[in-house]
Amino acid sequence: MIAIIPAAGKGTRFAPVTKVVPKEMLPFGAKPAIQVIAEEAVAAGAREIAIVISPEKELVRRYFEQVDVGVPVRFAYQLEQKGLGHAVACAGRPEEPAFVLLGDAVVTGPNPCVEMAAVSRAHGGAGVIGLKRVPRERVSRYGVAALDADGRVVDLVEKPSPEDAPGDAAISGRYLLGPSVFGYLADQAPGKGGEIQLTDAIRRMLGEHPVYGCVYSGARQDIGDPEGYFKALEAYHGRG
Ligand code: G1P
Repeated sequence: MIAIIPAAGKGTRFAPVTKVVPKEMLPFGAKPAIQVIAEEAVAAGAREIAIVISPEKELVRRYFEQVDVGVPVRFAYQLEQKGLGHAVACAGRPEEPAFVLLGDAVVTGPNPCVEMAAVSRAHGGAGVIGLKRVPRERVSRYGVAALDADGRVVDLVEKPSPEDAPGDAAISGRYLLGPSVFGYLADQAPGKGGEIQLTDAIRRMLGEHPVYGCVYSGARQDIGDPEGYFKALEAYHGRG
């Protein structure tokens, strides 16, 4: 298993500090967020980390040149902001399953990647999407999954309106995907917002490659804005 951490976004919701400091470098105690995320993947069995950055985010690379997380860390560049699916494809095509951990999603509590790997094993190595249930009025911020009675994903919609959403299970920053997803990403047409969406590529693979949902038990915070960052800090330091 490898782990891909997309971290090329501009961080506009957290400006002005993100003009110089990537949001993924914001501190949690003495570690930046992205190290907390990388260590989650390593604890779940990732044997290599691939971080996707833009040329403006060299600070992330410089940091990992000086810090050991126990496995090799390599870098890939996303030169145009063409969406999450495009960013993941920029990491290259692994020949093995890949965790995808969004660089702005910090999860506290039980390790979601460990829980997702267990779901994958229980279903013969199937893909897994990390989910959290959200109030219906907030589904339009997320990709939303429809699950059958066994927890298998039967549909996915990126940022639907509450009326069109196939449920309340929101895609929440963690994935475990077989290498076949990279074939789908390679010819994925732009979707919501004109961007190449990871959600759309996974949706296309559902028929041939089973994917299961895992409503993980930890608490996820989006550190892309100050409010989410403060909540994540509180949870991380045990005061949330
Ligand atoms: C991305 C995904 C979306 C997911 C969300 C949170 O959206 O496209 O499906 O629900 O992350 O994990 P973004 O927040 O980057 O717009």
